[in-house]
Amino acid sequence: MIKFKRPHFLIVALLIQLISLLVIVCLVKIQTIIELSLFEWSVAQGFLASLLAYCLRMPKWWMLIHLLFMPMIIVTLAIDISPLWFLFFFICLTLIYGKTYKTRVPLYLSSQQVNATLESWLPKGERFSFVDLGSGCGGLITRLAKTHENGLFHGIEAAPLPFLISKLRNLFASFPCKISWGDFWKQDFSQYDVVYAYLSPIPMETLWRKASKEMRPGSLLISNTFEIPGVNPDECIPLNDFSNSTLYLWKL
Ligand SMILES: C[S@@+](CC[C@H](N)C(=O)[O-])C[C@H]1O[C@@H](n2cnc3c(N)ncnc32)[C@H](O)[C@@H]1O
Repeated sequence: MIKFKRPHFLIVALLIQLISLLVIVCLVKIQTIIELSLFEWSVAQGFLASLLAYCLRMPKWWMLIHLLFMPMIIVTLAIDISPLWFLFFFICLTLIYGKTYKTRVPLYLSSQQVNATLESWLPKGERFSFVDLGSGCGGLITRLAKTHENGLFHGIEAAPLPFLISKLRNLFASFPCKISWGDFWKQDFSQYDVVYAYLSPIPMETLWRKASKEMRPGSLLISNTFEIPGVNPDECIPLNDFSNSTLYLWKL
């Protein structure tokens, strides 16, 4: 049987917008009964795109994006904002989020409760190494390095601005960590005792494959919020923080 690979979600989103736009343009051209303003037609296009997204089982928040995309374009054109603002916001988003369209892991930060729980979990006496996969602005490892002088902390971050912030933060820290700019998938996990990940549901299966291949027996994989499908954790620690997150721990 031939298996079709589902196209990239951005291609699907683009096709949905184009198809719904084409349908609405045809409707405007071939009939004279319904007379709507440009904005009203754009709302109709939004509803159609949203419906298509629902039929194609895109996540719910994509339906909202499809609903608002074209009406927002019409509104924005009407207010006549300088295109330089769009360039500015695009550059800001690229600096903050980097290649999120590819990694499917946006930036959000671990809570103080995560910090406190890890602090109580990490070894107090013997030396250990800890890596934060996608370390964001470096807050977690900087705070842990303060309370655990016996640990070697490494953060790997791909997005430019969070990486720069972590580097700056590290310059003034009394217990500096190692901060690298790059892709954690290229890193060998065998050098770490603890691997910490706060990512998204998308890469968890691949993360498990890499971790179980490379991590040493006895080392610890910790995931904030996101479980690994089909692999029961050795421990779950529910946290009472703003997102009601849970820490999942797997002992390799
Ligand atoms: C949810 S944030 C977590 C930030 C930080 N670890 C914390 O707990 O506060 C995930 C981060 O991973 C980064 N990231 C995603 N994929 C990456 C990759 N392949 N290599 C390096 N960083 C990545 C993103 O840019 C984002 O800053």
